[in-house]
Amino acid sequence: MGNTEYYKYSTDELMEIIDVFNVDADAQSKIKGILDSAEQTPDAGNFFRYYNPKSKCEKFESDIREKTGSKFALTVNSGTSALIASLVAAGVGPGDEVIVPGYTFFASVSSIVVARAIPVICEINESLTIDPDAIEKCITKKTKAIMPVHMVGHACEMDKICEIAKKHGLKVIEDTAQAFGGKYKGKYLGTWGDVGCVSLDAYKVIGTGEGGIIITDDEWLYTRAQSYHDAAACWRPDRYATERREGELFCGENYRMPELCAAAGIAQLRKLDWVNERTRAGYKQLKEEIKLPDFAKWVIPNDEEGVCGYTLGVLFDSQKQAESAILADVGFGGLAANATKGARDWHVFWNWEHILDQKTVTTEGCPFSCQHVDKLPEYSVDMCPKTKDIMLRLGVINITPGDTPEIISEMAAKITASLSSL
Ligand SMILES: Cc1ncc(COP(=O)(O)O)c(C=O)c1O
Repeated sequence: MGNTEYYKYSTDELMEIIDVFNVDADAQSKIKGILDSAEQTPDAGNFFRYYNPKSKCEKFESDIREKTGSKFALTVNSGTSALIASLVAAGVGPGDEVIVPGYTFFASVSSIVVARAIPVICEINESLTIDPDAIEKCITKKTKAIMPVHMVGHACEMDKICEIAKKHGLKVIEDTAQAFGGKYKGKYLGTWGDVGCVSLDAYKVIGTGEGGIIITDDEWLYTRAQSYHDAAACWRPDRYATERREGELFCGENYRMPELCAAAGIAQLRKLDWVNERTRAGYKQLKEEIKLPDFAKWVIPNDEEGVCGYTLGVLFDSQKQAESAILADVGFGGLAANATKGARDWHVFWNWEHILDQKTVTTEGCPFSCQHVDKLPEYSVDMCPKTKDIMLRLGVINITPGDTPEIISEMAAKITASLSSL
């Protein structure tokens, strides 16, 4: 394919793609002029990763391996699909339980149900990440995996979690959607467990609009994730060969990352360190300059040096104080004020009615009603009281890489003044 006129783009058609970048009319007209005068017409065949000597997906994967030190990297079309493919690849399926924190974006939990397994919702601690002591209490004979989530750029206690997993023979699937480039004890998040899953959607540390990454050192897990992410198994050395090992071929999805997103990913990856360094500097400066009252304290991450610094958390003594700080509108985000007004934030377990009421896409109720399930966890709005208490007392300050030291100082002064009047 690829070489026929049918796949070639005219200048007008290419301008549709350029339009995505939202450049002004003057720039558009200059680009149009260049395209009109170009001798070669770009070819849509180049937007497919296979049979493509210049595949951007392959280049992006090679860059990710180099950056993270992971042996294998697979680009996919979202963080959610990275999680689903990783769970399936790790052998998680009907009747298996996966431990996941009660504070995460709902996609982490959803991916477990889509992989036909049972989510077991676990408490977090004041680091805002899953509590290793609580993990032990969630383990049953059905537990197959732990999914620690590095929320708001903060690392989970990966050494403790990996030790628990080893002791009980469990897989560790790190949800690194919100913390790409962050570290725990000097090692990249996503490289501690059996597999790490990154989101590249538009609101993450770096983004390709939509996209995801799977990183692992486990060749078999990578092979199975590859199979699942590509139902047609185009990637195989011999596409039409029989299975090289049992468990390599099965019915999967198409989660392949488009070449255009991979091209954006290559460019974005070059900025990863810069983004994290800028936000980390803002985080440190805010912490130095804001004077907290004695009824509030900083959230202490498990590894302060390794945070992706785009959020700084404050824990108030009471929900009421958090609510007042958020309503003062001087730079605090958080749940307390929203919760009082009845807004449902999908990041906290008590709003996950899909799980609480075991809502499923078909009326048979799989995976919750399934011959492989003996006993379901007790799902309720009160199942993780410690998590609820922490989340309702939390105020969050967001930092962007564009925040200069002057902007940060202004923010710090406003927040300090507001806090002193609470
Ligand atoms: C913790 C967490 N996990 C998973 C996801 C899903 O990522 P995506 O939107 O790329 O599917 C997100 C996205 O917000 C997230 O925050």
